[in-house]
Amino acid sequence: MVTTHTVTVEPIGRQIACREDQNLLDACLRNGIWMPHSCTHGTCATCKADLLDGDVDHGDASAFALMDFERTEGKLLLCQACPRSDVTIEGDIEAEEGLEFSPVRDFVGTVTEISDIARETRLVRIGLDSPMEFSAGQYVSITVPGQDCTRTYSMANPPSQPEAIELNIRRTPGGLASDGWVFKNLAVGDQVELSGPYGRFVFRPAREEKVIMIAGGTGLAPILSMIRHILSDPSTTHELHLFQGARQEVDLYAVEELRSLAAQHPDRLHYYPCLSDEEWDGPRGLVTEVLDEQFDRLREHVAYVCGPPPMVQAATKLLMRKRLFPRDIFHEDFFDESDKNSGGLKSPLLKH
Ligand SMILES: Cc1cc2nc3c(=O)[nH]c(=O)nc-3n(C[C@H](O)[C@H](O)[C@H](O)COP(=O)(O)OP(=O)(O)OC[C@H]3O[C@@H](n4cnc5c(N)ncnc54)[C@H](O)[C@@H]3O)c2cc1C
Ligand code: FES
Repeated sequence: MVTTHTVTVEPIGRQIACREDQNLLDACLRNGIWMPHSCTHGTCATCKADLLDGDVDHGDASAFALMDFERTEGKLLLCQACPRSDVTIEGDIEAEEGLEFSPVRDFVGTVTEISDIARETRLVRIGLDSPMEFSAGQYVSITVPGQDCTRTYSMANPPSQPEAIELNIRRTPGGLASDGWVFKNLAVGDQVELSGPYGRFVFRPAREEKVIMIAGGTGLAPILSMIRHILSDPSTTHELHLFQGARQEVDLYAVEELRSLAAQHPDRLHYYPCLSDEEWDGPRGLVTEVLDEQFDRLREHVAYVCGPPPMVQAATKLLMRKRLFPRDIFHEDFFDESDKNSGGLKSPLLKH
């Protein structure tokens, strides 16, 4: 039997149980204590916290996200550290007006649809054994069958459809989950184990400014969830400007749906699908170049950016140059295993 320890979470002083094979973030999120986190695999450093008392195993924390001297000074990454005694930790417990997060739970899902939606990109729909409450923009962690590891994928469906999740998965050549499983032998009817919802890249309804959305590749998934949610919720009136980046037309997906939504809501959704490597009759260039041409300044806007880390970095720089503050920029970096070794850290300017 795995030993369980007591974790005291400061500054709220709550005590929760955590198994030796469970990381501290998982224990907090399952108990409704919303600790900051983003990648959940030891790369982004968002979940860094203080170990005030006790011993932990630091797990697979990237040496870039948690440096040796920080370990000595009593820092840890909540998403990697597992208790080896009763411990006391202290972190910034998240509380933001208008936001409520659902506790993380385990689910068993059954694959009901697999379809190719763009080059090297698949839609995978998974029916759940019980509905998952989540906020638009969040993600799940899926156990890769036969491997002692999990991978994270964002929901593209809106929270109003909690019985099944839609994932948009891009193939990473040689990748354990995408290439070795999803694109190889995942089939309709297969059962999958997953947990969720995770993440704080969520739509903030209380921010009423105009919204800039920037998506690279399958970074569209959480943004699609937000758009589907916002445009079908009569209580929201936000005006959205979506910049979707791809190299060629075959790499774009959800284009028909987004064009149709833009036609149905001409004052609410402005859609710019951008191609960087091909001439066509739509916007040409990197998403950042197209955005740069469209807007001189972006004061009084809020931005949501998601995709490969270099794209997120470039977009963030541009947004700040156009006068957005870090508090106005929400982002999700699709870090993968290679980022852990190369130090794919998010911009130090951004807190979210
Ligand atoms: C919050 C979040 C949400 C995400 N949502 C989505 C989504 O909606 N859709 C989507 O397509 N992706 C998403 N991703 C990315 C996804 O989680 C995976 O990282 C991606 O699918 C690759 O996983 P893989 O198992 O196929 O590849 P991996 O096996 O993880 O390999 C990825 C790359 O790392 C290299 N690599 C593997 N192991 C090592 C190692 N030890 N050292 C150095 N290099 C190594 C591989 O060669 C490869 O180039 C998300 C990521 C995050 C953090
Ligand atoms: S959430 Fe822990 S390092 Fe990213």
